[in-house]
Amino acid sequence: MIEIKEVTKKFKDKKVHVTALKHISLTVEKGQVVGLLGENGAGKTTLLRSIATLLTPSEGSITVDGFDTVKNTNDIKKKIGVLFGGETGLYDRLTAKENLEYFATLYGLGKHETKVRINDLSKMFGMKDYLDRKVGGFSKGMRQKVAIARTLIHDPSIILFDEPTTGLDITSSNVFRQLVHQLKQEDKTIVFSSHIMEEVSMLCDSVAMMHKGEVVYKGNLEELYEEEGSRDLNYIFMSKLVRGDV
Ligand SMILES: Nc1ncnc2c1ncn2[C@@H]1O[C@H](COP(=O)(O)OP(=O)(O)OP(=O)(O)O)[C@@H](O)[C@H]1O
Ligand SMILES: [Mg+2]
Repeated sequence: MIEIKEVTKKFKDKKVHVTALKHISLTVEKGQVVGLLGENGAGKTTLLRSIATLLTPSEGSITVDGFDTVKNTNDIKKKIGVLFGGETGLYDRLTAKENLEYFATLYGLGKHETKVRINDLSKMFGMKDYLDRKVGGFSKGMRQKVAIARTLIHDPSIILFDEPTTGLDITSSNVFRQLVHQLKQEDKTIVFSSHIMEEVSMLCDSVAMMHKGEVVYKGNLEELYEEEGSRDLNYIFMSKLVRGDV
């Protein structure tokens, strides 16, 4: 369970102050899949980085399964898997398998467990053919699959993905979608940001819509559809922007 309470995040960029998050409160229950929606610069990545203990809130607090993101960083790191768009965190000179083994070691996995995990993940992502090739020569989609596998290597119970399918082809995006379904069955908690409304409406139980650092709508997708009299998330989001009630 993730509890975000009145979180504000300010950045000092030279002499300009940017308030990326403004009094955000949001609760994500165990087993939920939550989509973060919002225009460029809305604060999605900042919020995900804050949950992942990579940023310290200027005000407010975030707890993950009761652990505080500022005080109990290590406890949280063990139970979360994070993947940020564009930052795969992989080593080009190592093979896909060596990369995964490296991250498994960081998380303290034993040899046998590592082998089983890599085998399962490479089967799931269809990576068997290139497990022993160096990541440096991989295409964007191949890289992203290894990066997603790296995120899941320690079997985290909470997973944060920042724009996980940006740049992936249809097949790889479908692999991601299947993965989310599977993780959901395993009762994992997932928060991911996306600009792809179809993906969010297919995968998420609920959404948080962000606008200029604020959460302007949060709640169950079915309830939102009912309220708005439409199941077109793209339309709902845009009409909220135009109506100005976001
Ligand atoms: N390290 C930083 N220093 C200064 N400003 C920052 C920093 N990180 C984020 N910001 C600012 O915070 C605001 C929110 O950025 P953020 O990256 O969270 O948006 P986003 O919703 O993820 O956007 P996108 O859809 O483009 O990825 C922006 O105004 C951004 O410039
Ligand atoms: Mg972002």
